[in-house]
Amino acid sequence: MKELFIKNFDHDLIFWYKKNGRDLPWRHTKNPYFIWISEIMLQQTQVDTVIDYYRRFIERFPTVNDLAAAGEDEVFKLWEGLGYYRRASNLMAAAKTIAKKYDGCFPADYDTILSLKGIGNYTASAVASIAFDIPKGVVDGNTLRIISRIYNRQDNIAKDKTKKEYQVVMDALIDRDHPSDFNQAMMDLGAMICTPKNPKCSCCPVSAYCEAHECHTEHILPVNIKPRTKNETELITAVIKYGDRYLMIKNREGLLKNLYGLIQYEVQSPAAFEDTFYENYGISVRLTAYGKLVRHVFTHRVWLMQGYLGVISENPEKIIAAHPEINLYTANELEKIAISTAHQKVMRLF
Ligand code: ADE
Repeated sequence: MKELFIKNFDHDLIFWYKKNGRDLPWRHTKNPYFIWISEIMLQQTQVDTVIDYYRRFIERFPTVNDLAAAGEDEVFKLWEGLGYYRRASNLMAAAKTIAKKYDGCFPADYDTILSLKGIGNYTASAVASIAFDIPKGVVDGNTLRIISRIYNRQDNIAKDKTKKEYQVVMDALIDRDHPSDFNQAMMDLGAMICTPKNPKCSCCPVSAYCEAHECHTEHILPVNIKPRTKNETELITAVIKYGDRYLMIKNREGLLKNLYGLIQYEVQSPAAFEDTFYENYGISVRLTAYGKLVRHVFTHRVWLMQGYLGVISENPEKIIAAHPEINLYTANELEKIAISTAHQKVMRLF
């Protein structure tokens, strides 16, 4: 994105947020202690659940010194039901550090915030930006998804390398005059509009800047393939259609010998699948929708199939003639051939 575009992106995003953002209690304060409490609670818990816990917590412990002096039992009692109790222990430890080392004054720089117990990159960026307007972008599932779509990038967001690269992108994109609003607007955009499934692009304030929207790839992004253990194979498995018929392959070897199945490749992105299909058959397929990850366990193997829907728009009769193992079948005809259970699971997604 060009600099002028970035400026307009920030402006349009924040304008939308001011009108449509969620009204949450921790958004009515600049008190870094309150914001810290909210961000710790939000680490593994839904916003709706956090609201009451947050209110009760800051009412009982209105300052960091109150929390530092608190008894463990009382803090855990207030945490009861939120889960992940280590968060409460870390909060108490960090409160004691702030009380002792920083005289009860919440540190106002990113690195010191990051050094506190229980605070990782995301929480440090959130607290630093929201409380002190320090321009550090928040990087989590929501913002990784948004960045992947805005720039139409097929990086695997499960990889640390991608997270590091997208942190740089977020830090460049963030509105230096309004870091707090920018980050919270991105959080709300991810939660309300740029959702994993069925993103609401028609209501999106930044769809004009979104390269995935322009290329119709928003439904297949982001790529999110988790690292796997040895006996697990990661595949992209596609239900490929030509008109109302389905392209199936009869397996000549392997685990599913003699059974019919879907086309699948051990590749890491939809684009790589499309390229491999083209290399094999000489016609193009376009993956148009993502279903979900389907796991199928064989005796000594696990297939992790990312299920996609694909379409062929040119007549594939020629390739079928050259490759007798593949053919097109109507829904009725599919009932009559033996299809592997693994692939039946993927077909049910669409
Ligand atoms: N999730 C994590 N931090 C949040 C915040 N400040 N507002 C809404 N949702 C969040």
